[in-house]
Amino acid sequence: MPSNYLSTTQSQWLFEKAKKFIPGGVNSPVRAFKAVGGNPIFIKSAKGAYLFDEDNNRYIELINSWGPMILGHAYPLIEQAIVEAAKDSFSFGAPTAKEVEMAELITQMFPSIEKVRMVNSGTEACMSAIRAARGFTGRNKIIKFEGCYHGHGDSFLIAAGSGAVTMGVPDSAGITTGVALDTLTAPFNDLTAVQMLIDANPNQIAALIVEPVVGNMGCVPPAKGFLEGLREICTKNSIVLIFDEVMTGFRLARGGAQERYGVSADLTTLGKIIGGGLPVGAYGGKSEIMDCIAPLGKVYQAGTLSGNPIAMSAGLAMLNILNQHPEIYTQLEEITNKIVNGIRKALEDLSLSYTINQVGSMFTLFFTELEVTNFSTAKSSNLAFFGKYFREMLHRGVYLAPSQFESLFVSNALSEEDIQHIITANREVLGLMHT
Ligand SMILES: Cc1ncc(COP(=O)(O)O)c(C=O)c1O
Repeated sequence: MPSNYLSTTQSQWLFEKAKKFIPGGVNSPVRAFKAVGGNPIFIKSAKGAYLFDEDNNRYIELINSWGPMILGHAYPLIEQAIVEAAKDSFSFGAPTAKEVEMAELITQMFPSIEKVRMVNSGTEACMSAIRAARGFTGRNKIIKFEGCYHGHGDSFLIAAGSGAVTMGVPDSAGITTGVALDTLTAPFNDLTAVQMLIDANPNQIAALIVEPVVGNMGCVPPAKGFLEGLREICTKNSIVLIFDEVMTGFRLARGGAQERYGVSADLTTLGKIIGGGLPVGAYGGKSEIMDCIAPLGKVYQAGTLSGNPIAMSAGLAMLNILNQHPEIYTQLEEITNKIVNGIRKALEDLSLSYTINQVGSMFTLFFTELEVTNFSTAKSSNLAFFGKYFREMLHRGVYLAPSQFESLFVSNALSEEDIQHIITANREVLGLMHT
């Protein structure tokens, strides 16, 4: 075995034990590494740009807890906020000043959000936003895009991306026919298909939900005019336009994809990022829609831990830093450009023409020569190649998402040396795969 192959015996032992007590040994399917082969590694700790596993191997982080660690792991000011908050106890199930501060900050950073409700995950945010849209419009159906993922709510597990497609179950078992029939799907970046669905279901569509930049079929940017087109179609047909910014919110810009592309949604869903990595979600938007939610309106939605004080403290610490330091976004983009350009150069030198998509600090190398603009082109990728690439990168100390159908997320904790290591590892692995 080459010397750069890591020993992961402790992780293997833990995985065997985990399988006895946890379905598949993991608490979220993609973590099982099924799509890439081999066993998952068990993480003991992380700091800055690095993860450390139970065998004390160090990895350079390119997932960052699927997005939220924009400033790197255990960022000191966030850690301090969590420790300070914990001294005042962990949960009250009653209103707090921090929730008000968080709501005010979110509405400042996202001008399309007039009112916001905190929940505990991105899934909850998306489920609740759909319910609010249905309550507001009195309509049942929704439109989502093939390969987009909006959490594991029943309505979304139709042609779902992320772990659902990675595990080969884009249409999950356990969803009733009625729910499935109320979810209409269109290819991403296809305005004509959206218009056709609307024409075929007049006055029946409550909401259209979209990842404005998709992360869950790998990184796929919106085509020029696509988001503007969705805005126009939704306004014309009184459909609630929901931007799922669980990944893009506060990452692509302070005001997420909406700021970056200059298009406003009616409702926005947010997730992990607003907790600085702690379990949080939120949905918000126009007051006239949000006021349909109990206790003001008839749409019921609640949560014992919603607005949890420790999660709010962590999130406030991070969002305040992002809000006050716009240069962070320039840094993130510069770091990501360097990595992506380095991989492009390696591909060029090896005469390979795989596709790389990048938006800001999100990117994916697809093992296909096709331009990746939607789910079907993403699925043209060679998954066996991806698996090999993933494993070889892992053994060179670079931690990638264990699926072709995920975006990578860059933090600004990466040093020049880390960036060069990532590029060199890519060059080595891509070369190795093609000899
Ligand atoms: C765009 C998007 N929406 C919703 C979700 C669901 O969030 P959670 O896993 O916190 O439930 C995810 C999760 O990755 C996501 O990427």
